[in-house]
Amino acid sequence: MIHLSSDTGETFHQAFQFAQRQVKRLAEKHPGVYPVYTSDGKWIHEGVVLSRWSDGFLPGLMWIFAESADPDSSDSRYWTEQAAKFSLPLEERKSDRNGHDLGFLFLSTYYRWYRKSKDASKRDVLIEAGKTLATRFRERGQYIRSSVADNSLTLDTMMNVGLVFYAARETGDRRLREIAMRHSLTTRRFLVRGDGSTAQEGMFESDTGEFLRHVSSQGYRSDSCWSRGLSWALYGFTTAYEYSRDPHFIETAQACADYYITHCGPEGIAPWDFAAPPETRTLVDTSAAAIAASGMLRLARLVPDSLKGHLYWSTAVRILKSLCDQYLAKPDPKWEGILKGGVYHVHKSLGVDESVMWGEYFFVEALQRVLR
Ligand code: GLY
Repeated sequence: MIHLSSDTGETFHQAFQFAQRQVKRLAEKHPGVYPVYTSDGKWIHEGVVLSRWSDGFLPGLMWIFAESADPDSSDSRYWTEQAAKFSLPLEERKSDRNGHDLGFLFLSTYYRWYRKSKDASKRDVLIEAGKTLATRFRERGQYIRSSVADNSLTLDTMMNVGLVFYAARETGDRRLREIAMRHSLTTRRFLVRGDGSTAQEGMFESDTGEFLRHVSSQGYRSDSCWSRGLSWALYGFTTAYEYSRDPHFIETAQACADYYITHCGPEGIAPWDFAAPPETRTLVDTSAAAIAASGMLRLARLVPDSLKGHLYWSTAVRILKSLCDQYLAKPDPKWEGILKGGVYHVHKSLGVDESVMWGEYFFVEALQRVLR
């Protein structure tokens, strides 16, 4: 992979340090609280959250800082202690069958915790959560049903299905692997279009499992491409390929990455929706950009074509550079988040042009990858 120039390396290093300061400030000011998005730059601790799908990202950030610190340092002890403290309350959700978001919760936390500690009880939590998620598989339709409805398949479940692949690999359970494979193939077939763009959600006929139509609650329209959904797909199909080595999945991840690259301007920052109407055309979603950058860094190492690998790696670096130069909250001492310009839900006016916790997480994950 290409080397960073010393200026770019320093920019990324400074951003990583700034991220640690912001997370420390939040954890010490509001211990035990898992905010989702900011309002005028201040983390909201109460008020509207649509579900608790993103609670793993704050402890996930802490695990990344713990991994990056010198193992004998006080920083390492501090971040490991904080990360464990914020991860433990999530454990009970390993048996929660009500949502499709267990991968978001556990891959950012217990997966990192197990990798660091090698404590088998953490692996057990991951396996149980993976098995729980697999119970949401519908034979009629061949997908893991979303939290929206039994007949709904959403793109973000591609970010969660990695947990089922993980549980399958760790236990050797072929049925779990089959579920993860079939869900990924169904998502590929119905939610990824021929040009690599994506639809947020597919609805199926309940009795027969036949596909009916696309819908989008967070994107502009059912036939548009909501940028965070595209980034979830890019990243999620890369994960599916890592576990399965099925070439369909790397083709799909590349199609999504290529769509992202060709539909963003030279700075690589996605609009909130690639077909946004004129009144919101200038609104970006930096969380979509951060997820895409992190996904492309992983994809770059997996693609057989080294030129494509170089393209994904250098695009990710370009995205991160734009995020650091234009959206880092560092020059604004009152802003409590790390990255400005994220979007949660445009139609509900939640977290629009604000910091969002998944944006912070994938931005820092991507910085960790390029700095390693
Ligand atoms: N529900 C996942 C997202 O907002 O992207």
